[in-house]
Amino acid sequence: MDKQKLIRKFDKQSAMYEENTRKRMWGAWRRQLLQNVEGDVLEIAVGAGANFPYYNMERMRLTAVDFSPMMLQRARKIAAELRVQAEFIESDIETLEFPRHAFDCIVSTLSLCGYDDPVQVLRKLGQWCKPGGRLYLLEHGLGKNPALKSAQRLLNPVARRMSGCHWNRNIEQLVLDAGLQIERMERHWGGMIHLIWARASVMI
Ligand SMILES: C[S@@+](CC[C@H](N)C(=O)[O-])C[C@H]1O[C@@H](n2cnc3c(N)ncnc32)[C@H](O)[C@@H]1O
Repeated sequence: MDKQKLIRKFDKQSAMYEENTRKRMWGAWRRQLLQNVEGDVLEIAVGAGANFPYYNMERMRLTAVDFSPMMLQRARKIAAELRVQAEFIESDIETLEFPRHAFDCIVSTLSLCGYDDPVQVLRKLGQWCKPGGRLYLLEHGLGKNPALKSAQRLLNPVARRMSGCHWNRNIEQLVLDAGLQIERMERHWGGMIHLIWARASVMI
């Protein structure tokens, strides 16, 4: 899908994402995933700041990226309310570059569904992380049950058109294909929701 069209699609959903942030949607999973995030931290596809309530700002410096101006506007508002200090960058993650080994931790929640080439994005995350740095992922993808997977694959074109999200991604395989080491993984809701604690390879 054309990038400008995709950005407009996410712009339009930004009010809903702000509401979800205020409702602390999926808060238990976010809290569990993000409790040890520290140091120089990059959050990609930050949306309306859904993870901000779970960060301990005393032990981190945050850089937050999204390509949707409306999402960033709402993320800035939530950050001000929660006293979260961050550098916000409006950019497409797929074309953005950071120096190698720039971050201690990288956070991605509900973002791998949106990219044209999620493996290439994950490879870049591995390079942006310091050697042995940590990646924290909360992503939706294909479930475990064959019938559920078939339904997700069937509905994928509709989901992409309506929300900009792919429903047919094998999240674990994408992470492995990018050369990242999975240290721990939990799956919920029939296996669709993935919580992944991964490490960048020390070889990158
Ligand atoms: C499903 S929302 C998730 C938002 C937030 N991370 C959360 O957990 O609620 C996906 C976000 O990814 C952003 N996004 C999608 N593709 C992107 C890209 N190529 N570059 C930057 N941001 C992107 C969208 O603008 C949107 O804010």
